[in-house]
Amino acid sequence: MKAAPPSTTFQLRTVTSSPFLFNVSLTFLDNRRKLNTSSILRRTLPSFSYVPLKVSANSQAAAPASTEVTKATTVPNEMKAWVYGEYGGVDVLKFDETVAVPQVKEDQVLIKVVAAALNPVDAKRRQGKFKATDSPLPTVPGYDVAGVVVKVGSQVKVLKEGDEVYGNINEKALEGPKQFGSLAEYTAVEEKLLALKPKNLDFFLAAGLPLAIETAYEGLERTGFSAGKSILVLNGAGGVGSLVIQLAKQVFGASRVASTSSTGKLELLKNLGADLAIDYTKEKFEDLPEKFDVVYDAIGQCDRAVKAIKEGGSVVALTGAVTPPGFRFVVTSNGEVLKKLNPYLESGKVKPVVDPKGPFPFAQVAEAFSYIETNRAVGKVVIHPIP
Ligand SMILES: NC(=O)c1ccc[n+]([C@@H]2O[C@H](COP(=O)([O-])OP(=O)(O)OC[C@H]3O[C@@H](n4cnc5c(N)ncnc54)[C@H](OP(=O)(O)O)[C@@H]3O)[C@@H](O)[C@H]2O)c1
Repeated sequence: MKAAPPSTTFQLRTVTSSPFLFNVSLTFLDNRRKLNTSSILRRTLPSFSYVPLKVSANSQAAAPASTEVTKATTVPNEMKAWVYGEYGGVDVLKFDETVAVPQVKEDQVLIKVVAAALNPVDAKRRQGKFKATDSPLPTVPGYDVAGVVVKVGSQVKVLKEGDEVYGNINEKALEGPKQFGSLAEYTAVEEKLLALKPKNLDFFLAAGLPLAIETAYEGLERTGFSAGKSILVLNGAGGVGSLVIQLAKQVFGASRVASTSSTGKLELLKNLGADLAIDYTKEKFEDLPEKFDVVYDAIGQCDRAVKAIKEGGSVVALTGAVTPPGFRFVVTSNGEVLKKLNPYLESGKVKPVVDPKGPFPFAQVAEAFSYIETNRAVGKVVIHPIP
């Protein structure tokens, strides 16, 4: 990938950390060690703030990367990023220190990435499942980002250099997602896809939210979910489901929330707000006498989900085959949704859930991919720090 001319210098500085907020006591075993998420999730981690430095003589002499950029501050020509040049398994991922920093279009900002997160779509895309509608290879993967604005395009209206932002960088998850994603030191993103980071959340907590919370919210809206309705969330321990439970309860006013997981994660579901936690290893949710206004299927069990709704109820599905009256949608990234939900995040009514195996440092992105592909992750798999 070819480098762009330099235009900004900047520096990240460590400041006071804030603790993780989600106080669950979930203990489970993996093959190597026993993890107590209560202690792990409460630990403190460093956060960063952006400190602009003076523009160097060298960078002032250079032309701005694009004539659409209104404020020429300096960024390096090249950056560290994870890249793949062919579709395939985790082994196609390569660490590259000479990837060109992306150009900023007029409606975009350039973000210095502080934290990113993985979603199952990153793995499926890398495997070539969406190649018909993908952008050309090579690809820097990554949808979710939290970081600091270091450059703004000429049509950017509100965001400015130094703003701490977060978002899902791909407006349409499967239709031409960006070639330069968030698993890099810099990524260029349309202003409309971003929101200011909730003030109470460290970058690594904010990074796990965008795609999952936008999906959770859009799915609930598409079912017409409203106060007083009941909902069953299939896969309540995953990135999306953990937020569907919370949004249904805290934002939409659900009268009752049920959810499925394996035995070791039932306590987490309850802590997230589920009134009924169903162990899918022991019970078939569709055989229970209780029926629901809505089933939110975040695992691919639509054929069974339609048996768990009341007459006239809805089933929204994120993946797998659809059985009527169920329907599926693909998330649209939207900064307005993040802005709308920020007060719930800042008040602590809705909390990010991050997997206790993480955050994975930038050098371990391949390991993080392998982990999310086990389909056992709790909440989000986050990448932090990013150099
Ligand atoms: N259409 C869209 O726009 C859209 C958007 C986002 C995500 N998605 C898709 O939606 C799915 C969920 O995404 P995600 O990010 O939430 O996934 P995720 O975080 O990777 O989900 C992992 C969780 O799945 C649970 N799980 C596995 N088998 C289960 C089962 N049979 N029943 C209940 N839970 C089960 C695991 O818990 P246990 O260990 O307890 O099994 C694990 O905690 C993925 O297929 C993703 O590609 C689609």
